[in-house]
Amino acid sequence: MSLCSSVTTGTRKLRLMGKEEVVKDNATLASNLRPTNQCRTLLPMRLLQIFLMFVVLALGISVVSMHMIKYLKIQTLAPTTLISKCDERSTLESFIKSPSSVWHSMNDSELLWRASMEPRRLQYPFKRVPKISFMFLTKGPLPLAPLWEKFFKGHEEFYSIYVHTLPNYTSDFPSSSVFYRRQIPSQPVAWGEMSMCEAERRLLANALLDFSNEYFVLLSEACIPLRGFDFIYNYVSRSRYSFMGSVDEDGPYGRGRYSYAMGPEVQLSQWRKGSQWFEINRNLALDIVEDTVYYRKFKEFCRPPCYVDEHYFPTMLSIFYPHSLAKRTLTWTDWSRGGAHPATFGKSDITESFLKKLPQAKSCLYNDQPSQVCYLFARKFAPSALEPLLKLAPKVLGF
Ligand SMILES: *[C@@H]1O[C@H](CO)[C@@H](O)[C@H](O)[C@H]1NC(C)=O
Ligand SMILES: *[C@@H]1O[C@H](CO)[C@@H](O)[C@H](O)[C@H]1NC(C)=O
Repeated sequence: MSLCSSVTTGTRKLRLMGKEEVVKDNATLASNLRPTNQCRTLLPMRLLQIFLMFVVLALGISVVSMHMIKYLKIQTLAPTTLISKCDERSTLESFIKSPSSVWHSMNDSELLWRASMEPRRLQYPFKRVPKISFMFLTKGPLPLAPLWEKFFKGHEEFYSIYVHTLPNYTSDFPSSSVFYRRQIPSQPVAWGEMSMCEAERRLLANALLDFSNEYFVLLSEACIPLRGFDFIYNYVSRSRYSFMGSVDEDGPYGRGRYSYAMGPEVQLSQWRKGSQWFEINRNLALDIVEDTVYYRKFKEFCRPPCYVDEHYFPTMLSIFYPHSLAKRTLTWTDWSRGGAHPATFGKSDITESFLKKLPQAKSCLYNDQPSQVCYLFARKFAPSALEPLLKLAPKVLGF
């Protein structure tokens, strides 16, 4: 309506300027009427315009929202971080390129199934650099992360990292960190129970999705590397054996944990014990991921005080591949203080001589020959150990 009145005044002014002085009442009336007439013809035009604008706008919104629905549907299947043009699955690269984030929306059964798919052809139609997959099993934070960052620096082509935390934990590593976006979808873990092995399987399965991962090392937030990256890479990749502890131990903590209900798949003579902290190759990792038979047996019949993470993989792999295991772990742990948990080392424990003696803390064989270096990793280290470790790393650890 304000539009109409401004038109009216405009017409009036025009008339005054034209000096039509014979302004009779009629004329005034007419001039008053004319703008109103004009207004009457203008109004429907405007309404029509506004109406058309609304129609165009509505069309626009509906087209946009249709696209949004499509987009959101894709989003619920996979997080944005996974969406890339490579996901068209039309190029070889889409299969072999490692994604920038390891997050996905598969549940455990979907993941294990997917991870058990393996190429059977021996030759790769691309340059495959075998990588070591470092799998961190932690409640949440990685207090020794700065030491690991230093360790990994400059070796990007030869490693990958996977982190399993409590499901409600969100890590906040900056994009410059090697741990950035390496957290996998996780489940709660109870110490000494099957959920621990399930978490390890989850880590292995996630790592298996990357075809270039050839070696798989399980670590905790309290682990440190005892040598530089190149040394560890060569030691692991040139070994004829996988470093899974596996001993036939008498007594209550060994054979004493066996249950005859585990037969016929697992006999007493096949029962093995080994450290939870392992290094295995791709073949063994696939066996762990695809297993359903032994999994059921151990889940049902190996419960505390049978600590399943010390028996399930060592026993099963010893049955499948007795000659592929080094039957020792690469991770040094101090059990000398007794009890259910190993010793933890803090700031005051970290000296040059302490760190130097760890790799050769016991005698061992490497590719069937006596070796000076038996351990490549060690645990457990408290957050307070970080500072002296960082200081001594260049001199003693070699990075
Ligand atoms: C995963 O999802 C599938 C399909 O919804 C379901 O059949 C299966 O039981 C789920 N597995 C787990 C471990 O939740
Ligand atoms: C996460 O869950 C665990 C138990 O599963 C609980 O102890 C802890 O307090 C939770 N943390 C947060 C940040 O909610």
